[in-house]
Amino acid sequence: MPIREDGQKVVGLAPSRQSSFYGRDIVSVRQFSREDLAYIMGVADEMRSIVKRVGATDLLKGYVLANLFYEPSTRTSSSFIAAMQRLGGAVIPIHGVQYSSVSKGESLPDTIRTLECYADVIVLRHPEVGASEVAARYCSKPVISAGDGIGEHPTQGLLDLYTIYTELGTIDGLHVAMVGDLRNGRTVHSLARLLRLYDTRLSFVAPDLLRLPEEIKEELLAAGRPVAETDRVEDIIANVDVLYVTRVQKERFADLRLYEAVKDYYEITPELMAQAREKMALMHPLPRVGEIHYDVDDDPRAAYFRQMENGMYIRMALLAAVLGKA
Ligand code: NCD
Repeated sequence: MPIREDGQKVVGLAPSRQSSFYGRDIVSVRQFSREDLAYIMGVADEMRSIVKRVGATDLLKGYVLANLFYEPSTRTSSSFIAAMQRLGGAVIPIHGVQYSSVSKGESLPDTIRTLECYADVIVLRHPEVGASEVAARYCSKPVISAGDGIGEHPTQGLLDLYTIYTELGTIDGLHVAMVGDLRNGRTVHSLARLLRLYDTRLSFVAPDLLRLPEEIKEELLAAGRPVAETDRVEDIIANVDVLYVTRVQKERFADLRLYEAVKDYYEITPELMAQAREKMALMHPLPRVGEIHYDVDDDPRAAYFRQMENGMYIRMALLAAVLGKA
């Protein structure tokens, strides 16, 4: 794997400005410092203003992204494509791996070695925890994880953090509650780990079966974050700045009877929102399958559609940054 003395990968053209993102893989949010996060959110702001003013730029003209998805996706895959296209780059979309050589039994390392011949950066979604790290080891170009099983979803974590910041103007000092499938929800794992870097209070709301993994709870406690757990939204809704709701991850259940037992545990309704603060953000990584009632959508605190839009700006920022063009 060709890497430079400073540990970064060699990604072709000289960067217009060095950043700590240049040539880096993005496989876990644990790799980021607060400075990194401030930098990438600042670049996302710039991307938003470019898109609002002129729609697109040619910053990544001549660059190619391989978008490799082994699991279903709507938002993550299409926002990466839109991000690359709005930066003037091109995309190789591989979304139905059943039509690629994966269906002939090709291994992940061989598929990655193939795509790095054609592309400058690879986005990978895969059902196995740690798959992005494996891919990154075999790849001389930057690999960006778009979710690895029940592990992490670092770019979603970044766009969630960015949404909290844009909705509420700060991250320090906030009380953030996460609701739903905290055990299998990779977006929860990434966002919780990011929030450990800020002066936040965290509440986790889930039935026993879906509680946050011990390992992550320990990371939060080690970082000095107060952590509370309950199984009732009613216990916390009046006191939170952010309510981050998630879907029960059906595809992670070996026994569907267990899924059936917990799938309808939570539903955020207008009646529940009436108990929440006037200034707060209701978020969801989407897709939703019943956890937030459609009647809540017009509530100004419902931030999930803005959250989704923010995903494109964060992904534009990340693509430009790892290719040394931010
Ligand atoms: C999430 C995922 O894939 O983990 N979706 C997304 O990328 N916005 C959340 C989910 O599927 O529940």
